[in-house]
Amino acid sequence: MYKITLLPGDGIGPEVIASAKEVLSALPIEWEFIECGIGYGEYERSGSPLPDSTLAQIRNSDATLFGAVTTPPNIPNYFSPVVRMRQALDLYANLRPTRSIPHSSSRANIDMVIVRENTEGLYSGIERVEDDGERAITERVITRKGSERIIRKAFDLARQTGRKSVHVVHKANVLRQTCGLFRTVALEIAKEYPDIIMNEMLVDTCAMELVRAPEQFEIIVTTNLFGDILSDEACMFVGGLGIASSGNIGADAAVFEPVHGSAPPLVGTGKANPIAMLLATAMMLDHIGENNHAVKLRSAIEACIANNETTPDLGGTLTTNQVTEKVIARL
Ligand code: NAI
Ligand code: MG
Repeated sequence: MYKITLLPGDGIGPEVIASAKEVLSALPIEWEFIECGIGYGEYERSGSPLPDSTLAQIRNSDATLFGAVTTPPNIPNYFSPVVRMRQALDLYANLRPTRSIPHSSSRANIDMVIVRENTEGLYSGIERVEDDGERAITERVITRKGSERIIRKAFDLARQTGRKSVHVVHKANVLRQTCGLFRTVALEIAKEYPDIIMNEMLVDTCAMELVRAPEQFEIIVTTNLFGDILSDEACMFVGGLGIASSGNIGADAAVFEPVHGSAPPLVGTGKANPIAMLLATAMMLDHIGENNHAVKLRSAIEACIANNETTPDLGGTLTTNQVTEKVIARL
């Protein structure tokens, strides 16, 4: 029996979480689902977009599935529950798989994971203005501990998934201290993995190589901002936001989510593509050790896409619920 926390959130979040719950329930596995509040709707109900009870429940479960939240117009005591959740649970590794789908909008032979550091770098939150607002400074913080754990995560993932290489992406020729430390740690850790090839690449070269020949990459590991940008770039090669999924992994908790937001105009139309959420669900199955079911779920999803059993964003005519039913039928 696995305990899974569900965070539907706002907008289409509840619609795609309902799809994930149905698909999981169709598997021969016992689940206990606990729904918790997050986002703007939760703020209106309880006064906080991320109540402590939600954080406690996430810590106390085997894994968490998160839909999406809406960012409200400026409200003084509102904070981003997504950023806060990653910080509070120390979800240091952001995994963004990019894999070809059998569809005309997707390039072929791509199967990579971008492993992004999720807690430090340029998103340190340490910012100030000087000279009466004439100078603005953000500190880029890179630590040995933060670098070690994310680089080790990338090499472990390469081994677990039978991949042969890891690209360590940095800009150490210019950012000599911060990227220099990241690079030094990578060179040390790579020695512990003689079976995996470590390639170094400057981030600007990587942006270019991703467009030119994305199939050369198996695992990319990089710092926070670089990973944020490169992973959004990569998802456009394989069908875009309707299918892009991600995982946020820490030592004590793991939260899986689609990359897309709450898409307010799609609410109630049946046009929300559940596949991004379902691919995040497959990542969750891998995470808890149910790898065979993860493989089956991905195959079922790919078969649906190949047979045009999709929502309008991928050129199909089915609704969120109908795609969910087709995926379950193929399981
Ligand atoms: P969005 O991701 O919600 O939508 C961008 C575009 O993609 C829209 O055209 C939308 O219709 C389409 N789209 C998104 N998900 C789709 C799906 N499952 N199937 C088919 N089409 C899909 O981003 P947008 O419009 O910039 O933001 C809307 C709200 O979501 C904002 O309040 C924003 O702050 C929030 N947001 C939340 C995120 C999260 O919860 N992790 C991430 C990004 C945005
Ligand atoms: Mg982004």
